[in-house]
Amino acid sequence: MTSRPDPAECFVYITLPGTTEPVTAARFEITTDRTGAPLGRLVYGKSYLERSDAVPFDPVELKLTSRIYETILMKGVFGALRDACPDSWGRRVIERHLGQAVLSELDYLLNSPDDRAGALSFGLTQKPPGPKRRFNQTIALAKLQAIADAIVDDEELPDDPEVTQAGELLLEGTSMGGARPKAVVEDEEGLWIAKFNRSDDKWNHARIEHAMLALAQACGLTTAESKVVSVGARDVLLVKRFDRANTDAGYRRARMVSALTLLRAEDSAQRRDRWSYILLVEELRRVSSEPKKDAMELFRRICFNALISNTDDHPRNQAIIAKGRDWKLSPAYDLVPMPQVSLERRDLAMICGDQGRFANARNLLSQSARFLVPDDDARAIVDAMKDRVKGTWYKTARTAGVSERDCERIAGAFAYPGFDLEQIQPVDG
Ligand SMILES: Nc1ncnc2c1ncn2[C@@H]1O[C@H](COP(=O)(O)OP(=O)(O)O)[C@@H](O)[C@H]1O
Ligand SMILES: [Mg+2]
Repeated sequence: MTSRPDPAECFVYITLPGTTEPVTAARFEITTDRTGAPLGRLVYGKSYLERSDAVPFDPVELKLTSRIYETILMKGVFGALRDACPDSWGRRVIERHLGQAVLSELDYLLNSPDDRAGALSFGLTQKPPGPKRRFNQTIALAKLQAIADAIVDDEELPDDPEVTQAGELLLEGTSMGGARPKAVVEDEEGLWIAKFNRSDDKWNHARIEHAMLALAQACGLTTAESKVVSVGARDVLLVKRFDRANTDAGYRRARMVSALTLLRAEDSAQRRDRWSYILLVEELRRVSSEPKKDAMELFRRICFNALISNTDDHPRNQAIIAKGRDWKLSPAYDLVPMPQVSLERRDLAMICGDQGRFANARNLLSQSARFLVPDDDARAIVDAMKDRVKGTWYKTARTAGVSERDCERIAGAFAYPGFDLEQIQPVDG
């Protein structure tokens, strides 16, 4: 293991709306406050602020001003920057790549490749480094999957130049967040997030997630586009990136921030007091260019999550994007059913009504006005979606290639009895 000095500061670049090359926008440093805790500081560059086409990194915290922004949340990394950083999967790949188990937050920012979510990138030079146009092609999926398997199993990668090169390839495509093994790949249609099944998965994740996106669309939700490809004997889910648009000049990049950033929340489940759809819809109504449409869409998503027992609907699984200057709710992604033992009470990850996180129709309806959905409409949405999920999940799953056995395994996730319970359930934190 080599020891490397911790970088303490970096430049932040942004690819502006309508363009395909990054420009320098800000300086970011992590230092410590008086108690020794990490303190992040960000300042936009003067020349960036002078540009007429400059846009802020996010719509809530880092406004376009010359002030010095400071944060002690999330180890000193501002939400908009943290959203461009890999989560557990990408971090693991970077650690393997650098041969170090403990890395600083800036290490992760600087060592993640440039296919990260959103329009930001990071570097140590004032001028953005030259463009790298190399993306993994879908043809490399088999190799990428084999490397992902080795990393999941914590196996040594064979000391073979081809594998080392493929290891680099995986690194080249892992800066997306999330915990599942994944890589970014390109085909003639554009960029996709390839999500790999794990050998210890209880079911065929790729096909089930694909089916849930289809079911969500059938329920009127706007979702990411997806397809399943078979690589050898295994299925891989490809989710089309909605934050990139292919043009002759290269890729345009939309800014993207998670609900965690919008809520100014922390990401550990122990500190989830601000994980709330009610707070989120208030923020969304303030920042969205289509507040009414987005608020109603969010209401539908909560309802859908409750009806498929998607209890992993944490604030990193919701985002807003800006292709131009305006922000709006991103398409839905990472929709996964979680069959659970309890028939009476299941909780979403975020507060969704007067009874906290309870995935229950009455609870959702208790706050529907905040989503700008009139009472009668809200009731009608809930009832229609319940009928649709109940009546069509199986057929949708089978059409998406989910096996009969897997359908049996996930059957308990859909329209569970507690969704309709009328009596008050105890509220949890
Ligand atoms: N279609 C997409 N386009 C752009 N970014 C996406 C898309 N889907 C997911 N992301 C981003 O990638 C991250 C990881 O994807 P996700 O599907 O949530 O993976 P995981 O199942 O590992 O959590 C998300 O948190 C989000 O920031
Ligand atoms: Mg996720």
